[in-house]
Amino acid sequence: MPIVWRDAMAIGVAELDADHKKLVSLLNASEKAVGEQALEVGARLFELVADYAQTHFQREEVFMLSSGFSGYERHKRLHQAMTDEARQLWRAYLSAGEGPARLPHLAALRDMLRRWLAEHVLGEDLQLKALTGKRMRIAVAPGAAPVAPREVLSRQVEVQKTTDVVYDLPPELAHLLQPFSCEVPELPPPEGGFTCFEDLCRAAIRHRIERVLVFFQRGNPQVRRALPPPFLASAEFAGKFHAAVAQLILPTIVSSRQIKMMSTNIDCAGLDTDNFWDMLTPILKEHILACWRSAWDDLRLLPGKKPDGTRIWQVKEETRTLRALLEPSDAAAYDLPRIGNREIDLFTSLLDTVTDWWGQLNRCWDIVEDIYEQEKDPRIFQDKARAGALRDNLLAAFEKFPEQWGDFLVLACHRMFPRISSLFLERFTHNVGHNEAERELHLPYTVRYLRQVRGHPGIRAEEERQEADWQAEMEQLRLYLKGRNGAS
Ligand SMILES: [Fe+2]
Ligand SMILES: [Fe+2]
Repeated sequence: MPIVWRDAMAIGVAELDADHKKLVSLLNASEKAVGEQALEVGARLFELVADYAQTHFQREEVFMLSSGFSGYERHKRLHQAMTDEARQLWRAYLSAGEGPARLPHLAALRDMLRRWLAEHVLGEDLQLKALTGKRMRIAVAPGAAPVAPREVLSRQVEVQKTTDVVYDLPPELAHLLQPFSCEVPELPPPEGGFTCFEDLCRAAIRHRIERVLVFFQRGNPQVRRALPPPFLASAEFAGKFHAAVAQLILPTIVSSRQIKMMSTNIDCAGLDTDNFWDMLTPILKEHILACWRSAWDDLRLLPGKKPDGTRIWQVKEETRTLRALLEPSDAAAYDLPRIGNREIDLFTSLLDTVTDWWGQLNRCWDIVEDIYEQEKDPRIFQDKARAGALRDNLLAAFEKFPEQWGDFLVLACHRMFPRISSLFLERFTHNVGHNEAERELHLPYTVRYLRQVRGHPGIRAEEERQEADWQAEMEQLRLYLKGRNGAS
């Protein structure tokens, strides 16, 4: 009996669902061909399956990447195994000679397609359903297949519900119904073509770190803050950090015996800065991380005592070099405290050879952004979140990442969201300590930022004015909509 496509099989991305429907029809066609022993269509079926595997898997992988899907690498490997399986079956079919000897191979193709549908599409691909409705995050690499604009589609549905209202609104209020927009920098594409393993290793580490730094570089041109961004949010800092890592940290890693051994054993052809991590054994990943940590440890300030017994921190020459390398070109470029052990801990946390944090960070941010809109800036077509939802969500997010990053998540909210004022930050810090010293232990950079705000009284005054304007506009909108609903 032919298989019938059901809505429950859909992921919710039009192009991928269309591909999966095509797989169902290929399965039905192979079933029919086996039943009727129609060997004349066999070759064409194998060809169509190979074509399906090539185009669909690539399309799905681009979608997973753009959605920050954490299971990307594993899923990509499954696709590769499926492609290999299809290729082997085709080879066996062709080498079986003409006639009935090919029939078992055609049946094997049918069985394979059954498994692809039952185990892969319904077992693996359906996990992608949870990603639909989230925002598109990164640009597609040049030459890659286009991605289904699922986010655009879902937003269009929301906006369509209110189209008549949007068009009717007085122009000065129209922006209150526009979906929230922001700028997220693009992730650089993987680099390949290395002939030297050590160079590949250096570049792969740089890319892995970049996946964290780029996440924190998000911004919103509509939100202007008077103070410079924290260093982790600055692209200029990222460039300087990479240079410092190349000079002070990477030599320890690439000169280690294990990496030298890999250099002589591994052919770099086909490897790039992404699949480098798939190729490493867990032991080697652990080794790179241990070298990374120990190189940073070497830069730590050491406790000492002056002749009079006063405690001091001794700064090594290399640490002074690090400080010089990370200085901003201009005080307005980014805010960086004098580098001490707290900063060295943070820098150490930026490389993880086991976990690629990009997907988790972006998923967390999608939720934060949705909750911000719902609690602080709800459009009329959205649910409203309870008061305190954003604060609770941020506090919960702290648990998911290295502890030093929570601070920068909170500061990213301030730089991205118009209504996350310094007053919100101030209240937020009260959740993590009874006094400033306690708060500083958990949120040192937010507390530092708030001290700077206190030094510029105009900042609070401007935030209060903006908040009053927003409240007045919302009141105007409420009155307008009330009148409109009353009139209809
Ligand atoms: Fe699929
Ligand atoms: Fe898949």
